[in-house]
Amino acid sequence: MITKRLRRFIEDVDRVVADTDDQYELTARISPLMAELLTDGYRLPDECTRPSPDHNMTYPLYIAPDDSWCLASVVWDVDQRTPVHGHETWGVVGIYSGIEHEVRFLKPSATAPAAPLTPAGETRWRAGQVTICCTTDDDVHAVVAEGDVPTIGIHVYGGNIGTIQRRRYDPATGAVTWFASGWDPVPA
Ligand SMILES: [Fe+2]
Repeated sequence: MITKRLRRFIEDVDRVVADTDDQYELTARISPLMAELLTDGYRLPDECTRPSPDHNMTYPLYIAPDDSWCLASVVWDVDQRTPVHGHETWGVVGIYSGIEHEVRFLKPSATAPAAPLTPAGETRWRAGQVTICCTTDDDVHAVVAEGDVPTIGIHVYGGNIGTIQRRRYDPATGAVTWFASGWDPVPA
């Protein structure tokens, strides 16, 4: 399932991850690699592009053996949306198909009392675009899948995003619940 082109991308990201721990440098250097992967016309395996009517799917494409970073195909069916959530790590997203309507919020201080979240802008990301979705100080958003086809993104995250404990927020009150997203099995 890992094509030669994807292998090259994984090796390139491995080199960056081995080079630096700085999340701003990591995301700045991985973004052009992601853009190049999309420009080159990389095609995901079909089985990693399938939506589910229940929830957005997170298929593992690669998880570094030391859990230092991972690569996922994230698939939203048309009109699916996420709650407001954080990532607690750095991440770079390349839009593979569809439209990702991202609604961002300022990350509340962990020590401040819960308060309504402050909106921080919205963007509609389209196929071929690359976004730094998160650094640990700026990682709170919700996603709505728009357009006529499923929204699919190729996501690189620091760590193993399936197991990281993350915050889910009630934007009206700032109340936090913790969760781990897990991974969805790639269909046979
Ligand atoms: Fe997210």
